[in-house]
Amino acid sequence: MSKISAKKIIIVLGVILVLIQFYQPETNMGNSLGENDITHTLAVPVNVMEILKTSCFDCHSNHTDYPWYSKIQPIGIWLANHVNEGKRELNFSEFNNYKAKRKRHKLEELLKEIKEHEMPLSSYTIIHKNAILSNEQAKLLINWADSAYQLIPLDSNKHK
Ligand code: HEC
Repeated sequence: MSKISAKKIIIVLGVILVLIQFYQPETNMGNSLGENDITHTLAVPVNVMEILKTSCFDCHSNHTDYPWYSKIQPIGIWLANHVNEGKRELNFSEFNNYKAKRKRHKLEELLKEIKEHEMPLSSYTIIHKNAILSNEQAKLLINWADSAYQLIPLDSNKHK
């Protein structure tokens, strides 16, 4: 490859990098706790809620606390994909709208993810160190999800 074409490639990449800054993905800035959040289905003790808010809500609720670099593309686009995917799988702000079967299933998945140390995503905890679950916090979440699971009757759609 000649020097000139390498230079051209760098210039083109630079222009693309500048241009994609004008694209800002939609942000997730609603209410994390609204009329259909999980507390309308299940009792969530304060210490459990603290863990969910600190370690899970950025990707699994209707409100994300964005870091400053979310404005830089393509980082922001990558973050938005995580938030969209996370919310699609499990949204604590909409949990009350799920059918009983889905609620139970999501709690089962939660138990699995926590036991296997899959959540919060490691790409997230590299930066958000405070989101890393201590053994004690993991145990708290597991105990809560386990007993919450028993409380959701199979036959009813909404359960207070
Ligand atoms: C950085 C974003 C992010 C954070 C923080 C995060 N998750 Fe996730 N979560 C995702 C994404 C993306 C998926 C879907 C892809 C996957 O399963 O890896 C997911 C999937 C899940 C699933 C699977 C749902 C299903 O039905 O398969 C559960 C359960 C879950 N997360 C629970 C949690 C809990 C509990 C926390 C906090 C302790 C948490 N997550 C923190 C992004 C995140």
